[in-house]
Amino acid sequence: MNSFDKSKPFNNLPLLPPKTEFETKEILTKTIKASRALAQLNGAIRNLPNPSLFLDTLHLQEAKASSEIENIITTNDDLYRAVVADKKFDNPATKEVISYKEAIWLGFRSLEKKPFITTNLCVEIVQCIKQNTTGIRTTPGTTLSNTKGEIIYTPPSGEEVIREKMTNLETFLNDNDTIDPLIKMAISHYQFEAIHPFSDGNGGTGRILLLLQLKLEKLLEIPALFLSEYIIKHKDQYYKGLRAVTERNDWSEFIIYILDMVEKTAIKGLDRLESIIQLMETTGQDIKEKLPKVYSKDLVEVIFKLPYTKRQNLIDADLGTPKTVGGYLIALEEKGFLKSVRVGKEKLYLNQKLMNILEN
Ligand SMILES: Nc1ncnc2c1ncn2[C@@H]1O[C@H](COP(=O)(O)OP(=O)(O)OP(=O)(O)O)[C@@H](O)[C@H]1O
Ligand SMILES: [Mg+2]
Repeated sequence: MNSFDKSKPFNNLPLLPPKTEFETKEILTKTIKASRALAQLNGAIRNLPNPSLFLDTLHLQEAKASSEIENIITTNDDLYRAVVADKKFDNPATKEVISYKEAIWLGFRSLEKKPFITTNLCVEIVQCIKQNTTGIRTTPGTTLSNTKGEIIYTPPSGEEVIREKMTNLETFLNDNDTIDPLIKMAISHYQFEAIHPFSDGNGGTGRILLLLQLKLEKLLEIPALFLSEYIIKHKDQYYKGLRAVTERNDWSEFIIYILDMVEKTAIKGLDRLESIIQLMETTGQDIKEKLPKVYSKDLVEVIFKLPYTKRQNLIDADLGTPKTVGGYLIALEEKGFLKSVRVGKEKLYLNQKLMNILEN
């Protein structure tokens, strides 16, 4: 056994890879299902004429869901208004979601420059989420409790111990190619959470790492996967799975959980993506018919980039002078494609049908 005591720092947390047989029939069958769903989603993304078009929206949706796990709740409406409007966020929850989205961006950009997940990258991510200068824990005293306030886990303590375990995780993440990437993703997520390198923000950082691993393993080009939505829905099972590893060295429950998360969210992501593409096509056709002088492919892209848009976005896309594009927006509203709302001194235009897809 691991000599685990929930109220003492778990400095004996075993290094990776685990010395357990986890490639059981059940796990391998599930791995195949998850991989298939993920490959379909990735194929659909590759076929998009302009995959990066949806990036902002996808990042924001994941950021919103992930923040909800920690009870940071904002509505889609507030969130997208805040992103598009000049008026800066008066709502702290919205602000935190936007920082989280920035952290996802930061991670992806970093992997594009150099394809490694490092301890430093984790630190940059947590700093970006929390908008402070936090780092690896140096003082003792971090514990995890359940809702009743009872301690359920005490992570390793001492900067050196934490760094050593992080270095081992780094090696596993970047160098191990004998374990299936999705199984590896589950193992490293457990390990990251068990090390709990920061005093706060470990859950959020760990969830971003899941997306980064998919990117690193070339399984998913853009994060059209709302993993956090699944975790919100199955939160108790998530915590239970983490504990099964620590307390009984039982990996299967947690690995199955992560594989199911990938499968289900990939299927849902594909569904959403297809709905958006279809809506974009029919809307484009409709605008072409009803407003032939307004229509252009670029214009349709601008009103699908985010559920809210404004005059400046059309100007930035070189669609015309302020006066011309102002006229376009008025015409689009008259025909029911968009609906205007006043936010501060500005007028924003809502694409309600796109918002509806994101809401469900
Ligand atoms: N028994 C456990 N062992 C290891 N890790 C755990 C355990 N229970 C929960 N965790 C992890 O700790 C995270 C919470 O840690 P922390 O508060 O530092 O993160 P956060 O990002 O601020 O919060 P949250 O994940 O709730 O959004 C959980 O999301 C989970 O991943
Ligand atoms: Mg927290």
